[in-house]
Amino acid sequence: MSRQNTSQGVTVEPLKVALLGSGSVGTQVARLLTAHAQELALRVGAPLELIGIAVRRLGVDRGAGIDPGLFTTDAPELVKRADLVIELIGGIEPARTLILDALASGASVVTGNKSLLAEHGPELYEAADAGGVELYYEAAVAGAIPLLRPIRESLAGDRVQRVLGIVNGTTNYVLDKMDTAGLDFADAVAQAQALGYAEADPTADVEGYDAAAKAAILASLAFHTRVSADDVHREGISGVTAADVASAKAIGAVVKLLAICERVVAADGSEGVSVRVHPAMVPASHPLASVREAFNAVFVEAEAAGELMFYGRGAGGLPTASAVLGDLVSAARNRVGGSRGPGESTYAQLPLRPMGEVVTRYHISLDVADRPGVLAHVAKVIADHGVSIETVRQQQFPEPEGAGEEKPDRASLVVVTHSATDAALEATVSALAGLDIVTAVVGVMRVEGED
Ligand code: HSE
Repeated sequence: MSRQNTSQGVTVEPLKVALLGSGSVGTQVARLLTAHAQELALRVGAPLELIGIAVRRLGVDRGAGIDPGLFTTDAPELVKRADLVIELIGGIEPARTLILDALASGASVVTGNKSLLAEHGPELYEAADAGGVELYYEAAVAGAIPLLRPIRESLAGDRVQRVLGIVNGTTNYVLDKMDTAGLDFADAVAQAQALGYAEADPTADVEGYDAAAKAAILASLAFHTRVSADDVHREGISGVTAADVASAKAIGAVVKLLAICERVVAADGSEGVSVRVHPAMVPASHPLASVREAFNAVFVEAEAAGELMFYGRGAGGLPTASAVLGDLVSAARNRVGGSRGPGESTYAQLPLRPMGEVVTRYHISLDVADRPGVLAHVAKVIADHGVSIETVRQQQFPEPEGAGEEKPDRASLVVVTHSATDAALEATVSALAGLDIVTAVVGVMRVEGED
């Protein structure tokens, strides 16, 4: 593409765009760049010329009417010629090297690579700073949902206190099906795989790695502090049972995999940050409880703004392409205007607080001996740990069906606590598990939402 006239009569050089990766998101990005070329040029102030698409193998039919002449296997060469690079390869290498090369050669980069950002973010931001260029990554967290830009820019005059939400669509789908269709974990995962939400190896989603990488990115932006994926306390959903889901239902709650990033204040008034990903029971009245299927939703609580909620599709080729193109237009506009958007901001560098200091609530389900004093004993152990009980529910085991079978002298006891530190709650559960009147600790899950 040579010099072009926009409809405003401005003659400008096109900006050369290199696309790395042509999976479901890349294909949609290429298609939209072509289909909306004219409008995008007007928004940017210069045409965006797609100069090539780097792929691992040529000759694969990727559909979407993309000019086959654009495909190349020489990503490094493509990067050298670009003003703007879109990285959608995923993983660490070669994505990291290609992004570093692009930034060093003066190209701005748009990426959706959450694991790379969560593991190597500082190196990439420093390279962007050194090159005087930009690094944007809206697509890395919650797909189509505009979330990073609102935190970084719209709330730049406020103080974010908490970011809490559902940032993994696959696990939300699995938990939703366990709740609404009564599926067990394995069947719900198989259904998510059949629909293309879960990978053949679903570990990254179900064990919370994907959500932890996103939580690290969100916490870094929200609290102006470098947080890596390793700093995030992570528990996945593979241990969530049909019984947990039924227990949640019995207290008017649903189970969700939550990412929670909080500004915490210690007794001496010093501030810190806690970042965690784990399943939790959420009251059915909480807006996050009604997030169904593979949707994502994130609450942001800021000092002045109060509560904000962001909701939408957290994955998928077309929705994620929307976030990528939004970033591309921003980076391209800044280039045309000779300006730079906000870079990394880590001035606060708040200390990371361990999980034990986090204040939360527990739902504890126990099988206990059904005899006098058992409830009082359990209550005493909980009180001895400084934990206060919110509700207790005792249920008899059902009458045996077989003739002549004895009724078990056991009962099911479900305790929901008031808020306490995670360390105190964990110690409480260990002590309960060690009592001879406790036959089994059937389930332990945190409860989030109103106390
Ligand atoms: N696998 C992710 C999810 C989408 O299920 O939400 C990409 O981050």
